[in-house]
Amino acid sequence: MADTSYMARKSIADIVGSADVEGHALSKTLGAASITAMGIGAIIGAGIFVLTGTAAAQFAGPGIMLSFVLGGIACAFVGLCYSELAAMLPVCGSSYTYTYATLGEIFAWIIGWDLILEYAMGAATVAVGWSGYIVSLLRDVGINIPPVLATAPGTVIKLADGTTATGVVNLPAVVIIAILTTMLVLGTKESARLNNVMVAVKLVVVVAFIAIGMFFINPANWHPFIPANTGKFGSYGMSGILRGSAVVFFAFIGFDAVSTAAQEAKRPQRDMPIGILGSLIICTLLYILVAGVLTGLVPYGDLNVPDPIAKGVDAIGFTWFSILIKIGALTGLTTVILVLLYGQSRIFFTMSQDGLLPPLFARVHPRLHTPHLSQMLIGTVVAIVAALTPIGVLGEMVSIGTLFAFILVCGAVMYLRRSDASAMRPFRVPGVPVVPVLGILFCLLLMVGLPLVTWMRLVVWLVIGMTIYLSYGRNHSMLRFPERR
Ligand code: ALA
Repeated sequence: MADTSYMARKSIADIVGSADVEGHALSKTLGAASITAMGIGAIIGAGIFVLTGTAAAQFAGPGIMLSFVLGGIACAFVGLCYSELAAMLPVCGSSYTYTYATLGEIFAWIIGWDLILEYAMGAATVAVGWSGYIVSLLRDVGINIPPVLATAPGTVIKLADGTTATGVVNLPAVVIIAILTTMLVLGTKESARLNNVMVAVKLVVVVAFIAIGMFFINPANWHPFIPANTGKFGSYGMSGILRGSAVVFFAFIGFDAVSTAAQEAKRPQRDMPIGILGSLIICTLLYILVAGVLTGLVPYGDLNVPDPIAKGVDAIGFTWFSILIKIGALTGLTTVILVLLYGQSRIFFTMSQDGLLPPLFARVHPRLHTPHLSQMLIGTVVAIVAALTPIGVLGEMVSIGTLFAFILVCGAVMYLRRSDASAMRPFRVPGVPVVPVLGILFCLLLMVGLPLVTWMRLVVWLVIGMTIYLSYGRNHSMLRFPERR
């Protein structure tokens, strides 16, 4: 008998067994190295190349290093939980699938809808960051893109001659999304290969920044390490470190994107934990070092610019290195957009197989083996959002949506340990329930660091999602109405 309640749960056996439904098979092409590279590809991006500077200047000062430590600790707890679930349930769908197995369909839908904030809106955010760096690089080589054509409508821009103008559309962001969507439609294996090369370039640039920059640090820039609070919550002091963490948390987003590739991994039980934890550890160390070098090179008050890392290099005085850094940043941002667009299509793929989204999202191209229609639709919507929305609004929405999803993932680990105690767990989170509980508490702490308006936007987004579920998903659910399969 089918369970027709909204709380219907998927069984672990069903989830694992449904991984390769006939006619919808994705090819298994990814190894541990590709998956770790995919993680790093998704992680190092706008967070470190754009937001570190603004967060240091406005909220935390040199204490931004501690903000990164706090964000890293939160993500470590969550990363352990993701590893257990991704190895246990090697299907695409990420936290959406885990929630389906624990809290049931209606919560699974909520999380799937919430993940659009992380993946699709995340891709749009990073595309806007990409636009800023490409405009700056092209200017260095004498090509001037009119600023009004690279800025969201309504945003006031200060021009070089001292006058102001208002943005019309962000065209470079549209261009990069169109190019990457085309690549993803053409093939996963090829995209993964190019991704590996671009990840290598971005790592070299980040490591070079640390290795060269550390010899030019002026320790006086680190004093005061935690500037005194100005009397306002989040404006320096300890609350500033917290606010800084909530903002640079964006920099960690993406390690979980690895779990969306589980179905295409050659050996998911082994490769998933390696990919998730490996990429997270590497990136956290690099972030703390970059933040330390950057605030040592430039007084923190001067870092509120669109390309803070390039500003750090200017302080060293090597012009050639500045151009190299911009190229590295562009490469880094490109891989983040690529992985997020990919992850979004795989989450929709699973939701569509479950009947919560129309069948179109699970259709795989017979020759290319990619969900081509879904990928193109996602690309179109993301391009429109990136063309029209400022980066600040997008970034905070991405952070709150992701933190919300992370909390449910930690909860899922605890729930499944009880409900499915005997299920095969190739990787086990140590110290349950302490580690998942700490993960939940740290995520909540970071959410507290975000402004009230962002919380309100999250609620509105979830209400829209619920309306869609009630008018489509609940009537088409494969789990509740298996006879419609
Ligand atoms: N972590 C990714 C970034 O920093 C989303 O761009």
